[in-house]
Amino acid sequence: MTMNKSVAIFGVLLVAPLASRVAGKSVELNPSTFEEAVHSKNAFVKFYAPWCGHCKALAPDWDALAVKYAASPSLVIGSVNCDADENKNLCQENGVSGYPTLKFFKDGNTEGESYQGGRNLEQLFRFAEEELDKKCVVGTEEEMNDEKSNCSDKEKEFARKMRSKTSEERKVQIDRLEKMKGGSMKPELKSWIFQRLHILAGLETVGGGNDEL
Ligand SMILES: *[C@@H]1O[C@H](CO)[C@@H](O)[C@H](O)[C@H]1NC(C)=O
Repeated sequence: MTMNKSVAIFGVLLVAPLASRVAGKSVELNPSTFEEAVHSKNAFVKFYAPWCGHCKALAPDWDALAVKYAASPSLVIGSVNCDADENKNLCQENGVSGYPTLKFFKDGNTEGESYQGGRNLEQLFRFAEEELDKKCVVGTEEEMNDEKSNCSDKEKEFARKMRSKTSEERKVQIDRLEKMKGGSMKPELKSWIFQRLHILAGLETVGGGNDEL
């Protein structure tokens, strides 16, 4: 028993410094941190293998992106090492067949979409800025009308409609959307499902409105 334990500890000591050396500046994700990351913020994720040449070439730009958004309330820059045993399933579920694979995850969509754009720093940066570094902050109607809330007109309109419903009625919407979200459909439609779920969840925490009347 003690031997197993010391072997395990030895293993950790041996592996940990190596892991942090190859990790770079983005958030290293694994199955236990992945969902949480994707649910709390939008995520731009690089699936890589430490030995791959294209991955090494991309690494400095990915680091720069990670540094740029380290304090963002709405975007996390992540990396998944597909060479690590613990991540094998995660990489497979994400359809990773070549390295590096870049995917983005918006509004809690754990399925994500492939990033097909250019991979130089400026292109990555522009995509992150325009598409990912904003998440609709759900609040009162007034708060959501403020530009800082980053909510689209469509999101504001949906929030307005849902605010006038009871918590029960919103629950019905949530259940319906939860059932739909796994289906296959155009990315825009899927995004809209997740945007609505994000708003409905937000309305529950800020107090939808109608229930207090
Ligand atoms: C709102 O958008 C701006 C500009 O894209 C961004 O800098 C900011 O972090 C966003 N805030 C949130 C909470 O999404």
